[in-house]
Amino acid sequence: MADVCVITGGGSGMGLAAAKCMPRDKILIVSGRTLSKLEKAVTELSELGFQAYAHTCDTSDRKSVQELAAFAADKGTVRNVINAAGMSPNMADPEKLLRVNALGTVYVNQEFSKVMGAGSVIVDISSNSAYVLPKFLISHKTYGLAETDEESFLKKSIKKSNLAKTDYQRSGFAYALSKNFVVWYAQKCAFEYGKKGIRVCSLSPGLIATDMGKLEEKEGSAMLKFAAEERMGTPEELGYAIATVADERNGYLAGVDVLVDGGSTNGKAFRSN
Ligand SMILES: NC(=O)c1ccc[n+]([C@@H]2O[C@H](COP(=O)([O-])OP(=O)(O)OC[C@H]3O[C@@H](n4cnc5c(N)ncnc54)[C@H](OP(=O)(O)O)[C@@H]3O)[C@@H](O)[C@H]2O)c1
Repeated sequence: MADVCVITGGGSGMGLAAAKCMPRDKILIVSGRTLSKLEKAVTELSELGFQAYAHTCDTSDRKSVQELAAFAADKGTVRNVINAAGMSPNMADPEKLLRVNALGTVYVNQEFSKVMGAGSVIVDISSNSAYVLPKFLISHKTYGLAETDEESFLKKSIKKSNLAKTDYQRSGFAYALSKNFVVWYAQKCAFEYGKKGIRVCSLSPGLIATDMGKLEEKEGSAMLKFAAEERMGTPEELGYAIATVADERNGYLAGVDVLVDGGSTNGKAFRSN
């Protein structure tokens, strides 16, 4: 059976860029909500020599994720899952952001781990926004509710987001919270699924020049003055980083977040003047 690589959010941006960096002998499945975008991605990937399929999926809907996992398992051995589906503060309100970014990650990891075996890997895409929250606002107890009591998880997380003043700040807070959750959840899954030989990591990009990155540029570019080269990242740079982390040959990288933000998070300590 051939190896299958599934990329949620694979119709655009860094998900599609990562798909292009995968080994040519893998069957690629690009997924998202918009079929036309996925079909265009499949055409591009086919021209590069990949065997690629489009399959629509809304990752905030568990049933939809189950269907995607079944579709992938039918095509071959599910070896790599890159969970790049996500929404940003300018795209949605706090509830939507938490449903897609946080609960979507729970559904993807849980449903795919059922069809994956030893030597496979899941990479959940977070954000360097995961690192901006004050520690006292982060509750791992609340995060745990995402698996046991979704409505309470949402209610508590939205309540925290609503402490912010403007609509954008509320969404920004929910985005940061949802991405901090992704880092925590990928680690939790790494130790749970490690027993089955499934490796799990998260990867946190900084501001990247995808459609989403351009939409967030006005508010997000404040971080760029802390980046080593003081610039945005390119989708291609992130695609390569993601594909490397998702490569099964990188077998000892597990239970960590890989921060690919041009140094902008750590740069604060060095560029404070
Ligand atoms: N660009 C940045 O500056 C930046 C920085 C940090 C982190 N990130 C994260 O990186 C990931 C990739 O983003 P990108 O920059 O490559 O932006 P992008 O091009 O907008 O990619 C996001 C993809 O996710 C899909 N998507 C959105 N909601 C979905 C849902 N409910 N179910 C399934 N697919 C969904 C979108 O397709 P449809 O709309 O067709 O579903 C889109 O193809 C996201 O998780 C984002 O939060 C981005």
